[in-house]
Amino acid sequence: MRFFIDTANIEDIKEANELGVICGVTTNPSLIAKEGRDFKQVVKEISEIVDGPISAEVISLEHNEMIKEAEELAKIHKNIVIKVPMTEEGLKAVKVLSEKGIKTNVTLIFSAVQALLAARAGATYVSPFLGRLDDIGQDGLGLIEEIVTIFSVNAIETEIIVASVRNPIHVSEAAKIGADIATVPFKVIKQMFKHPLTDKGIENFMNDWQKTFK
Ligand code: E4P
Repeated sequence: MRFFIDTANIEDIKEANELGVICGVTTNPSLIAKEGRDFKQVVKEISEIVDGPISAEVISLEHNEMIKEAEELAKIHKNIVIKVPMTEEGLKAVKVLSEKGIKTNVTLIFSAVQALLAARAGATYVSPFLGRLDDIGQDGLGLIEEIVTIFSVNAIETEIIVASVRNPIHVSEAAKIGADIATVPFKVIKQMFKHPLTDKGIENFMNDWQKTFK
């Protein structure tokens, strides 16, 4: 499983990129709004930092408008992926964009049939929202498993981006299931590095070294 970072914060993206563990970025309108800066400028800056797929979401709800927005966003950089909501209008836009060779990421997926429809419309990626399902007491990981199975049985090439990741266990469980990618908030990426026994081990090594060689 590969990792994307789920943020529009330039400093966090730079730091995560230096860690060497991410190969893409996902944003959404809420994450962009949180930064309070010009949308296209932020997307451009991200694409100059990370050499991999950068998801930028359309805000229109009608397919022709989505396509216009997508075409503008796609001009920013060759790595831009257009994030489109899982609606009838969204999938009409996905069909046209995929015919034009523009990559898409269908977002706000909460059921296996939604993922299947998005794939059949030509989506490059689908983003099932694991954490938001868990938040309402539903089985988020169960959904990821269902989509992985359906895509594998049906030889579907659309890649699965596990989104709405809340903790490192979400990441390891999604990896066991065989999801292609997890898009992870920076806070969770940092948690993934940590183990108390690693810290303790470093402390012990340093102490032993100091005792003998200081
Ligand atoms: C996906 O690409 C979304 O940006 C994201 O994962 C949503 O996560 P949230 O449920 O934490 O808002």
